[in-house]
Amino acid sequence: MSQKEYATIAPAEGKLGILVPGMGAVTTTLIAGVESVKRGLAAPVGSLTQLGTVRLGKRTEGRSPKIKDFVPLAGLNDLVFGTWDIFEDDCYEAAVHAGVLDRPMLDRLKEPLSAIKPMKAVFDQEYVKRITGPNVKDKGSKMEKAEMLMEDIRSFKESSGASRLAMIWCGSTEVHHSAAAVHQTVKDFECGLMKSDPSISPSQMYAYAALKSGVPYANGAPHLTVDTPAMMELARERQVPIAGKDFKSGQTFMKTLIAPGLKARMLGLSGWFSTNILGNRDGEVLDEPGSFKSKEVTKLSAIEQILQPELYPELYKNIYHKVRIEYYPPRGDAKEGWDNIDIFGWLGYPMQIKIDFLCRDSILAAPLALDLVLFMDLAQRAGMKGVQEWLSFYFKGPMTAPGLYPEHDIFIQLMKLKNTLRWMQGEDLITHLGLEYYD
Ligand SMILES: NC(=O)c1ccc[n+]([C@@H]2O[C@H](COP(=O)([O-])OP(=O)(O)OC[C@H]3O[C@@H](n4cnc5c(N)ncnc54)[C@H](O)[C@@H]3O)[C@@H](O)[C@H]2O)c1
Repeated sequence: MSQKEYATIAPAEGKLGILVPGMGAVTTTLIAGVESVKRGLAAPVGSLTQLGTVRLGKRTEGRSPKIKDFVPLAGLNDLVFGTWDIFEDDCYEAAVHAGVLDRPMLDRLKEPLSAIKPMKAVFDQEYVKRITGPNVKDKGSKMEKAEMLMEDIRSFKESSGASRLAMIWCGSTEVHHSAAAVHQTVKDFECGLMKSDPSISPSQMYAYAALKSGVPYANGAPHLTVDTPAMMELARERQVPIAGKDFKSGQTFMKTLIAPGLKARMLGLSGWFSTNILGNRDGEVLDEPGSFKSKEVTKLSAIEQILQPELYPELYKNIYHKVRIEYYPPRGDAKEGWDNIDIFGWLGYPMQIKIDFLCRDSILAAPLALDLVLFMDLAQRAGMKGVQEWLSFYFKGPMTAPGLYPEHDIFIQLMKLKNTLRWMQGEDLITHLGLEYYD
């Protein structure tokens, strides 16, 4: 694939089915958002696929089409949604419960939202400790449950009339665990499924079912799913794109804006303390130490990778970095994130930066989920298989080929994403050299 000058992309014909394990705050905000944009009730703010442009050729050419006009993406009118959740609420009820969007807006969308009812989930309390619900597949080995998910995928495709599918995990964060023996090869994993190995989590069963069914899989949460040798092998074998992990939506988004700026100016950093208050169901799940650990790992990695202390020891070798999330129900989805950044400048003189980001978690995450499924479907039609590193832009913990360090700098990530789109369409890559303007 990488040897070709550009990709051959199959057209986006027919409907694209978006399959989502977990129908909570992010998923309902995504679906309600797509329905309102389709009806002209709101604008898709925050979505690169819907609003972004890509410059082509030289600056003097004046060619900057919208991304959605430049590459053949599925249109919003062609999207259909299928979900799983441990609760029986339909999408309207779940959106009301999530409390992200206001009631008048949801009431205008009641008909399409009420029609989306979650399929029975594969769930394991060992992996998400704080919640329990009735809408679950409770019988069978892990392999049988994965097969039931494959059957769900088949019947959703048939009933929705979708010609293609893409899956994105927007379910709760599972407890932190590392890849075990069972995650090393597809064969090990399949044996593990048959033996109901305790190291196999529900999200891994959804991912297995998706990849076996030829459906791309993106992971919006920080836990271990497609970032294992077994899943990477399966994705390559089935020629399916995978991407992850953990939406880069709020505080880490801020970090990856600021840290590259400090490094660009060669300013030093001695400490970065981040804390959040959050009162939605995600906050409740993250209040449990095992699930928080998954989040902490992806949240901590970004700064170190961006600042490269091994190259700049005098600026970044002794950073004290701490991240906290506090569950505080009165705030619901309206998270508040504080950052205290201790920096130093010329001759080592200390300075401080304070950030108080009064954000809305799911308002920030929903457009990322939309872009991801549209780009994953594009990648599939372009024949791009395995890890989609060009989608690092969307993730706190970007997946890469084994042995490569991930790129966290959001501006480099955006350049890489746009250059990938240019490459797909056979356009010149943009290097920003620009000497020709001065010849
Ligand atoms: N909102 C953000 O800004 C943001 C950013 C990064 C990552 N995330 C991650 O995205 C995910 C979704 O966030 P949210 O705010 O919508 O959470 P949420 O708690 O509102 O929704 C998660 C839903 O998943 C369901 N669920 C749990 N386990 C399941 C399973 N095995 N199968 C099917 N459904 C299952 C829960 O019942 C719940 O309805 C979380 O993992 C969160 O950490 C969110």
